[in-house]
Amino acid sequence: MMVNPLTLFVGLAILISPLSVTVVDGLGVNWGTMATHKLPPKTVVQMLKDNNINKVKLFDADETTMGALAGSGLEVMVAIPNDQLNVMGSYDRAKDWVRKNVTRYNFSGGVNITFVAVGNEPFLKSYNGTFINLTFPALQNIQNALNEAGLGNSVKATVPLNADVYDSPASDPVPSAGRFRPDILGQMTQIVDFLGKNNAPITINIYPFLSLYGNDDFPLNYAFFDGAQPIDDHGVSYTNVFDANFDTLVSSLKAVGHGDMPIIVGEVGWPTEGDKHANTGDAYRFYNGLLPRLGTNKGTPLRPTYIEVYLFGLLDEDAKSIAPGAFERHWGLFRFDGQPKFPLDLSGQGQNKLLVGARNVTYLPNKWCEFNPDAKDLTKLAKNIDFACTFSDCTALGYGSSCNGLDANGNASYAFNMYFQVKNQDEMACVFQGLARVTDKNISQGQCEFPVQIVASSSSSSSVSLFVWLIIAGVLFVLMF
Ligand SMILES: *[C@@H]1O[C@H](CO)[C@@H](O)[C@H](O)[C@H]1NC(C)=O
Ligand SMILES: *[C@@H]1O[C@H](CO)[C@@H](O)[C@H](O)[C@H]1NC(C)=O
Ligand SMILES: *[C@@H]1O[C@H](CO)[C@@H](O)[C@H](O)[C@H]1NC(C)=O
Ligand SMILES: *[C@@H]1O[C@H](CO)[C@@H](O)[C@H](O)[C@H]1NC(C)=O
Ligand SMILES: *[C@@H]1O[C@H](CO)[C@@H](O)[C@H](O)[C@H]1NC(C)=O
Ligand SMILES: *[C@@H]1O[C@H](CO)[C@@H](O)[C@H](O)[C@H]1NC(C)=O
Ligand SMILES: *[C@@H]1O[C@H](CO)[C@@H](O)[C@H](O)[C@H]1NC(C)=O
Ligand SMILES: *[C@@H]1O[C@H](CO)[C@@H](O)[C@H](O)[C@H]1NC(C)=O
Repeated sequence: MMVNPLTLFVGLAILISPLSVTVVDGLGVNWGTMATHKLPPKTVVQMLKDNNINKVKLFDADETTMGALAGSGLEVMVAIPNDQLNVMGSYDRAKDWVRKNVTRYNFSGGVNITFVAVGNEPFLKSYNGTFINLTFPALQNIQNALNEAGLGNSVKATVPLNADVYDSPASDPVPSAGRFRPDILGQMTQIVDFLGKNNAPITINIYPFLSLYGNDDFPLNYAFFDGAQPIDDHGVSYTNVFDANFDTLVSSLKAVGHGDMPIIVGEVGWPTEGDKHANTGDAYRFYNGLLPRLGTNKGTPLRPTYIEVYLFGLLDEDAKSIAPGAFERHWGLFRFDGQPKFPLDLSGQGQNKLLVGARNVTYLPNKWCEFNPDAKDLTKLAKNIDFACTFSDCTALGYGSSCNGLDANGNASYAFNMYFQVKNQDEMACVFQGLARVTDKNISQGQCEFPVQIVASSSSSSSVSLFVWLIIAGVLFVLMF
């Protein structure tokens, strides 16, 4: 048989490439855990390592997650949720938080905590000001507690902010005219001054998808990185909203005397379901523009240097609130079961390859719940579908999503199955007043997958042993020195 030399070369390159795989400088991911069935944290950490991702941003400091990260070498941003900002107004509580959730992991083989995120988008307009006066005191107390614990040089407190904390005036809607929102200018100035004093970065979440979502006037191509009509800002030209948004922040910082403050992009990403622009095609286009771009380390017109960026997010989360939109549960680079959704080269070299999926995932049996076609009384069907969808994730049925084309029976089956899977395939969860039945036939239809859930990670036992292990490790560490 003739072997085409080119094929051989490509084959060799594929064999060799895993050895040289890296990711672009400063790249991390957000690891959210609002899912009904979580993968075991150790499986997730292995998946991060398999993909050479070495920075991760959390939304809390959960003990089991931290245990899985211990000894991994990953750099970790831990977080204080908004609902704890109020109590962090007490310096004693802040010190306690730092002791239990930061200092505790500072030993050889522990967790390399580099940042503490204080709150999550606390100034979001939809929070009606609830956290406006709580954020700065919490930030101050946490950083001061870190400083007092002797960790101030290696661990920085920061506040992940939504990009709606700044804007450009309608009269001059360009990045160079960016300013912090007038209603929070006082708080933002205090925060930025304090971050500056502690050599800490400001953290901002930028969502080109949200610029597009529900805004049909937004120029579609400007959300991506491939050839939009340039927009002129007094001689500087912008071809994507990511750069323009980032530079609006740079200008806002400059206006309060901190034009050089380091900026972390705390979240950026693209969802794959739940809107006409939320699909794997658009997500592929976005990420495969973003990554090569980050890989050049060229930054933006006003900040021509590398950018530290945390992608949002790692996994789909079927228990997130869909108040912001049906897409909320579908931000993952990976599906709920840790399998990649589309090709993405994190090295920024634009190779068309899939990420490495989670290994050794355990699924529930191949069983589904479907609409029972023999059911006679359909008067209660709508009510039962409603019930199923209230306690499970039916967002894939919506407009623009992968299951939007189902017929009425298909809709019912989809809803019933999602509920049945959430309930770990409990037969009692597939009754629906006689309208449903269990089947072992895969009832997926075309692009619309009817999923089988994974076996949920039970964390309680491992967290006990983790705690014991941490104490032992801590004691050993103390004894060694
Ligand atoms: C540490 O973090 C965990 C998880 O976020 C939280 O539940 C706990 O209250 C924190 N500990 C303290 C002492 O605040
Ligand atoms: C933690 O990460 C920082 C930032 O990359 C690095 O400089 C430091 O050496 C790491 N510390 C440990 C103990 O691994
Ligand atoms: C522990 O804290 C010191 C600073 O006091 C830092 O240099 C070191 O990297 C930290 N170790 C770990 C494992 O985070
Ligand atoms: C903010 O106000 C609106 C309108 O008054 C209300 O619908 C919403 O629930 C409020 N949100 C919060 C988080 O309080
Ligand atoms: C925040 O504090 C300011 C000044 O004390 C006060 O005027 C304002 O009403 C407070 N805002 C909220 C939402 O509590
Ligand atoms: C997966 O399972 C195999 C066989 O049980 C085991 O050898 C391997 O270490 C496991 N891998 C991970 C990442 O857990
Ligand atoms: C199926 O459900 C979706 C989402 O609720 C709805 O838009 C669609 O009209 C339904 N289809 C039928 C045939 O009932
Ligand atoms: C069911 O079928 C769909 C579509 O063909 C497929 O993607 C999915 O992997 C199948 N599920 C199982 C558990 O075999």
